[in-house]
Amino acid sequence: MRAPNPWPVAVLASGRGSNLQALHQASLHGGLPIRIVGVFSDKSDSGAIAYAQRHGIPHRAFAAKAYPSRDAFDQAMMTALAEVRPELIICAGYMRIISDAGIALAPCPMINIHPSLLPLYPGLHTHARAIAECREEHGASVHLVNNILDGGRVLSQAKVPVVAGDSPERLAERVLSREYPLLIETVRSIISGRIMLNNAQQAQVLYLHDDNSRLD
Ligand code: GRF
Repeated sequence: MRAPNPWPVAVLASGRGSNLQALHQASLHGGLPIRIVGVFSDKSDSGAIAYAQRHGIPHRAFAAKAYPSRDAFDQAMMTALAEVRPELIICAGYMRIISDAGIALAPCPMINIHPSLLPLYPGLHTHARAIAECREEHGASVHLVNNILDGGRVLSQAKVPVVAGDSPERLAERVLSREYPLLIETVRSIISGRIMLNNAQQAQVLYLHDDNSRLD
């Protein structure tokens, strides 16, 4: 993959946008060589859009009800997304399922951060499910997006312990604090070529250590 410096990335987000914020702050102060060229959302009142607004990052929100179908929605969003010319799309808390048509129109590789140790717990309520099944460990994964929900190749993971008496909320907080460095270090590894997105042979999952610093 070509390596422009800084690497233009687009972020898709539906919610509070703390992963977006972590990426953006890492690009400003943490030596992460990216430029966020656009934030796209299905929620105009999301924290992610508000963050982009406050920081002068180009942003656009699309209202599902303005489109006759999921394909039409995704087509509109991918068209707008292609206009900002990203080299990488990062889904950071984007809660809407992207249709096959939308995925096919993506102008560059797309990754997603998901709060579980995939292939465990694709979909929603991952923290509650991990607790209900008495898991000793939970965590987060970054994976390639394909047309299977949370089913693309896993690129990296960070683990956290599940502790006695954990609530889904407490566990989610613990996982979230590891999501930020995981996403940042994964993007750094993609840019440096350590993680190759178009090399299906590279099946090894990279793990983020507890010191937040390295993937191996
Ligand atoms: C994160 O836990 C992410 O893994 C999941 O949704 C949450 C988004 O949080 N997909 P935020 O909007 O980045 O704060």
